[in-house]
Amino acid sequence: MSEAAHETTTVAIVGAGPSGLTLANLLRTAGIGCVVLERQSRGYVEQRQRAGVLEHRAARMFEEWGLAGRVLQDSRTDGVQEFRVDGEPRFLPIAELAGGRFGRILPQQFLVQRLITAFLEDGGDLRFGCGDVTLGELDSDRPIVTYLDESGAQRRIEADFIAGCDGFHGVSRRSVPEGEQTTYTYDHGIGWFTVLADVPPPRHPMFAVSSHGFAAHFPRGPRSSRFYLQCPPGEDLGAWDEDRIFEQLRLRIGDPDLPYGKVLEKAVVDMRSFVVDPMSYGRLFLVGDAAHIITPMGGKGMNLALADAEVLAKAVRSAVRDGDEQPLRDYSRTCLDRTWSYQEYSRWMTEMLHDSGDPATSGPFRHKLARARLDRLFTSANAGGLFAELMAGEA
Ligand code: APR
Repeated sequence: MSEAAHETTTVAIVGAGPSGLTLANLLRTAGIGCVVLERQSRGYVEQRQRAGVLEHRAARMFEEWGLAGRVLQDSRTDGVQEFRVDGEPRFLPIAELAGGRFGRILPQQFLVQRLITAFLEDGGDLRFGCGDVTLGELDSDRPIVTYLDESGAQRRIEADFIAGCDGFHGVSRRSVPEGEQTTYTYDHGIGWFTVLADVPPPRHPMFAVSSHGFAAHFPRGPRSSRFYLQCPPGEDLGAWDEDRIFEQLRLRIGDPDLPYGKVLEKAVVDMRSFVVDPMSYGRLFLVGDAAHIITPMGGKGMNLALADAEVLAKAVRSAVRDGDEQPLRDYSRTCLDRTWSYQEYSRWMTEMLHDSGDPATSGPFRHKLARARLDRLFTSANAGGLFAELMAGEA
């Protein structure tokens, strides 16, 4: 193998999604060397639309690391959540109830584009089109990553640490020897049919509960909306043409005037949860979706990924700068405490808002329970406050 094919770095990061790119930027800001290896092309990664809400903690993180100016520009702030119950709007003042904390609406593709730009502007090493990534020597002091570069040449990087930021289907978690991790999975038995459409965004993010079934309406940019409709798990996409989509949205949201708009994208997501414990093995640290999947209910997936990235960046900084490896040893516990708290929040919201009176999936008893639960958010400052605190994210 040629000399150029052997390299060394402090942190080899596998995957350039929200977690890998955040970690890369934070390490770069801390002056710690890293190389990011991404399987897909830049164009693919920059166009992928998924999450859209940054919680308070994530925005504060970018501020504290001096990246807010480049990452958060024109992210919309919204301190109010609408619950549309049987067509009646009710507004929960999240920011007010959560002591001034609020989320920001920032579609994932904008976040990803900005993180790539910031990292490259600062001279970061980000490689797209990396094939056949393999991880080795994970329980040694010098773990190794090999891959095929865009020209098909074999490359090898020796690192102090490897960050597995390659999502649920990535290679990192699969590289941990069998028996070293406990896996927790849960199927919520609920499907979400999601639609991206050219429909003007709602004034506030909205969840709608009615006997027609659950729906949600979120802003995605100045002219587009993302809708979610509960459907049976494994639903056939073909069963949803534009007429049915808008008829169901109007019924579930209780707005017969909801305008039609061009459907840009549709998909079915089955609500699943997944967690591995511990989130590390030797010198490999799993970050974001590589370690845990959470349902989209509550919008915490991207936020958990960003939070893991910051915990790891700080732990690597302590190890490299101060020779203190304790934060690295604590990495998994620290991240898992937050992960389980968010899993519980997400499950709570799922219970609160689904199967709430739709005769096909539930009945009148659940209908009454759902309304009582939702009512409590508005009538009890404690209940509303706890919900708002979790929605806004930790202080
Ligand atoms: N080699 C290199 N890169 C890989 C490999 C591989 N073998 N496998 C996957 N990748 C890349 C993917 O192409 C993707 O760009 O890793 C990246 C993983 O990104 P995500 O799946 O988005 O995971 P993560 O960064 O942890 O973010 C997760 O963000 O999209 C939101 O809410 C969503 O919970 C999710 C969160």
